[in-house]
Amino acid sequence: MLQYLVTYASETGNTKKIADEIYRTLPNFRKEILNIRQWNGQYDSETYFIGFWVNHGTCSLEIIDLLSSLHGKNIALFGTCGLGNTPEYYRKIEKSALTWLPDDNHFLGSYFCQGCMPQEIRQKYELCRGKCDETQLNLMIKAYEEAKFHPNRQDLLRANIFASEVITVADKIQGR
Ligand SMILES: Cc1cc2nc3c(=O)[nH]c(=O)nc-3n(C[C@H](O)[C@H](O)[C@H](O)COP(=O)(O)O)c2cc1C
Repeated sequence: MLQYLVTYASETGNTKKIADEIYRTLPNFRKEILNIRQWNGQYDSETYFIGFWVNHGTCSLEIIDLLSSLHGKNIALFGTCGLGNTPEYYRKIEKSALTWLPDDNHFLGSYFCQGCMPQEIRQKYELCRGKCDETQLNLMIKAYEEAKFHPNRQDLLRANIFASEVITVADKIQGR
């Protein structure tokens, strides 16, 4: 059995950057990293770092399938999203993913940060001008602009700290 498995969904590479940083932080012993698309149940692990990009406020079906299948494991979540760089928004995302995690797991926390969005999203926003609520639209454009340069070095550093904290707690649970 692995000690740590990092698995993630990432369409444009933002979440992969966080996954790679978390993987680098883990001790070099019985660890694997895997795009969720390659997941076929081939690994069993004590601790799972499960990452996703936020799509319409939540995670993808593949992530839901994985979360729902786990029992008696240590679980940490991570991810990237375009909007709302606030603790409240990140809590909402965490909550929506945790709905799928059975209660017999140990949830060890989550880490989210912003990730740049494709240019088509900005174009879509512009097409909305005059048809949508202007204040809301301006907020979305502001978030788009803010997200442009994320994940950045700070985001990766925070991911590294998050992973170190999770390792400490997971080790305690496993009696190491
Ligand atoms: C189709 C689509 C839907 C999205 N929906 C959301 C959303 O509901 N909330 C949000 O904060 N970001 C949303 N985003 C932004 C992505 O979550 C963000 O850019 C993320 O960093 C992409 O990660 P990836 O590069 O790992 O695929 C959406 C992006 C796309 C392309």
